[in-house]
Amino acid sequence: MAFRTHHCGQLTLSDSQKNVTLSGWVQRIRELGGMLFVDLRDRYGITQLTFNEEWDAPLLQEASRLGRETVIQIEGLVIERSSKNAHLATGEIEIKVHNLKVLNRAKLPPFTIEDETDGGDELRMQYRYLDIRRRPVRENLLLRHQLGLTVRIYLSKLGFAEIETPFLIKSTPEGARDFVVPSRMNSGQFYALPQSPQTFKQLLMVGGMDRYFQIVKCFRDEDLRADRQPEFTQIDCEMAFVEQEDILKTFEGMLIHVLKEIKGIEITSVPRMTYNEAMRTYGNDKPDIRFDMKFVELDEKLRGTDFKVFTDAELVVGIRVDGKADFSRKELDALTDYIKRPQIGMTGLIWAKHQDDNTFTSSVNKFFDSNALAAWGDSFKTKAGDLILILAGNANKTRKALSELRMHLGNQLGLRKPDEFAPLWVLDFPLLEWDEESKRWHAMHHPFTAPKPEDLHLLETEPAAVRANAYDIVLNGHEIGGGSIRIHDKGLQKKMFTLLGFSDEEAKKQFGFLMDAFEYGAPPHGGIAFGFDRLTALLGGQESIRDFIAFPKNNSGRDVMIDAPASLNEDQLKELSIGLIQAKD
Ligand code: AMO
Repeated sequence: MAFRTHHCGQLTLSDSQKNVTLSGWVQRIRELGGMLFVDLRDRYGITQLTFNEEWDAPLLQEASRLGRETVIQIEGLVIERSSKNAHLATGEIEIKVHNLKVLNRAKLPPFTIEDETDGGDELRMQYRYLDIRRRPVRENLLLRHQLGLTVRIYLSKLGFAEIETPFLIKSTPEGARDFVVPSRMNSGQFYALPQSPQTFKQLLMVGGMDRYFQIVKCFRDEDLRADRQPEFTQIDCEMAFVEQEDILKTFEGMLIHVLKEIKGIEITSVPRMTYNEAMRTYGNDKPDIRFDMKFVELDEKLRGTDFKVFTDAELVVGIRVDGKADFSRKELDALTDYIKRPQIGMTGLIWAKHQDDNTFTSSVNKFFDSNALAAWGDSFKTKAGDLILILAGNANKTRKALSELRMHLGNQLGLRKPDEFAPLWVLDFPLLEWDEESKRWHAMHHPFTAPKPEDLHLLETEPAAVRANAYDIVLNGHEIGGGSIRIHDKGLQKKMFTLLGFSDEEAKKQFGFLMDAFEYGAPPHGGIAFGFDRLTALLGGQESIRDFIAFPKNNSGRDVMIDAPASLNEDQLKELSIGLIQAKD
């Protein structure tokens, strides 16, 4: 007998009276006065199996001894159910079983294999193969497959070719630490795993491949967050003979297509905002524009003269929270506590309420009379019932804190709806950022990113003011992709390396191959990489990428299922010359 004629999500009323064979896992067993019901599960769904004392008592006995997660095969007749289940694709039928075979017994699973499980995160990771049997995780992985397929078809149709690039390489500069792999054959030397295929995709452009993409693993040794994993996947793309506008058009086309195909959502274009505007209006270079609460700055006039917190501050900035003047003292205190947490580190929150009778009251009534508060109201464009929240202090810190508060309120008030999608291009990033620790300029994107031609003259005199031909694509407050137009001129690339503090020798050692390649006719080119895990998670309505990766790492970068990383034995270390190696500068 074949293992199955149908799968467990397939049979409907139109299959009534068919004899079928099914295989799967026992999800649940229920006994009900001489009847016994088994939910049989496979990847495709659940089908109810029915046993009846009157039809076959020994068979019912046998079925009652089946443990959860036992793998079985049954033969039976499809019949109409008396009590139907509208939530199940197969909910109108059940199988009157006449043959039952146990294919494999199972130990009792350490957590329930249900949509809502009682298993904690670590336990689920340790038994990830059991977790994957659960519908939500399974659906996430299938969504990931669907997204990959959609992207591959879309890009292939546009002439992009998927080309693999090596994993055992030399350091790529994306700003994180490298994972390294010792080489047995080259004693004392190490490969680095790619933080991205950046240099290779540029070499493919020099190689004339014109349009490249790859759905590819990248490796970055950085601290984990909900939207970060040490190994993650990019949809990595590069195009030759393009300007920034060509790339924006191509890839907003891809995102629009994906939203339509995967979510059935139609959007016509992706709005754009400069980096400066994003920082000024949302305090953040990846704003969630599904909700408003734009920043309003208080100028000198509105800050009064007596309130030191304002008069001393570099920046006084606030948001309007619509309809929330009814926030209680307790609720406002909770928001104050939120911004006082060490991670945010502000000293206080100022609030003002536009009351129903059009008068104002505030936490600083002592310093601002009702006229002064009404002027705030004008500035924030409040109406009766609105709340104003204000922070003051150092400009960068205050913007960042207000951005956190804005997101916190967005979550608290249910404004960050997971089924709403608001993509945004953020453009004109600064080329460089100053790193206080190393007292050096760092490339904000990476060192191959081209400055805007009109800002080139500022490169040496005012590096901070130089904007890059670099762009991020943001979805619902997450950076889902980023890229740039590249430098394709050897001289300019050399200048960049110098500005970034690389000596000629260092630059040659690390990127000599790219500089050499640029001498053989590099076309103007540029590209982008999307975070595949992040995009999948957001399309799945979540912000954490972990459950969209089949076998993710935990917060300490460990795979708790296979117990990696692990130590090596002495022979292996010797073979790899580890322990004997002297560090080289
Ligand atoms: P970037 O470093 O911005 O650009 O990476 C592109 C996108 O990859 C995703 N991403 C991550 N996702 C999960 N875990 C991580 N640790 C992680 N790090 C990054 C983000 C990000 O937007 N070579 C350039 C692209 C280019 O210039 O074409 C690059 O890697 O969604």
